[in-house]
Amino acid sequence: MKIWNNFTKTVNVPAEGIKLEGEEPSIRDKYRDDIERVLISKGCLKKRVEHLASEVADAFEEVKEVNCLVVLKGGMFFASDLIRLIDDETELRTRIDFIQASSYYDKSTTSGRVKLRESGLLKGENILLIEDIVDTGGTLKRLQDYLREKGKFFKTCVLLDKGLPKSPGLELDFVGFNIPNEFVAGYGLDYAGMYRGMPEIVIVKKELLK
Ligand code: PRP
Repeated sequence: MKIWNNFTKTVNVPAEGIKLEGEEPSIRDKYRDDIERVLISKGCLKKRVEHLASEVADAFEEVKEVNCLVVLKGGMFFASDLIRLIDDETELRTRIDFIQASSYYDKSTTSGRVKLRESGLLKGENILLIEDIVDTGGTLKRLQDYLREKGKFFKTCVLLDKGLPKSPGLELDFVGFNIPNEFVAGYGLDYAGMYRGMPEIVIVKKELLK
């Protein structure tokens, strides 16, 4: 793994993965048969999320509040770390709402049909859409169209971007990491419901994927 120390802008993650100096990421025995390797260590995630919180704070500084719309389920840990940092370290007031978007179910490729479930009335105008990953971009496009239909002002924050060709009109305002085109899990992301609780971003073994 490469040692990384600049987290002030989107990190381009090499295929070998990244860690902080002195970190020794390893796959726990219980997951060793399923996981290829660690791509982004726990320490690197923490550092970049801290910087993302300050990027968001700068962008919303004038309006003084941010209405976080967390995309479930994958965005759960990223959003929870990001929002606590925004509240704890910046002058912005926050509100939190949730929306669930699913299209992969138990597969490693998208079904192409993005099902949205709202958790209630979306309050406020200055929305930060918080999503874990942009793969084909289908989910994010659907969510952004949904917010545009509601006439909301929003910015989009994603933790991981695979850098694949995007649908026209897809906007990414804050990106944590550009990653290689591999099936990743951990830190909220799953494969068939598993691995969400792993604290790092890992690559799932190809032979496991359907
Ligand atoms: C995953 C992920 C993103 C989406 C990205 O969601 O959490 O929302 O896929 O893929 P795309 O860019 O190709 O649309 P999934 O449908 O697996 O639901 P989950 O978040 O509940 O795991």
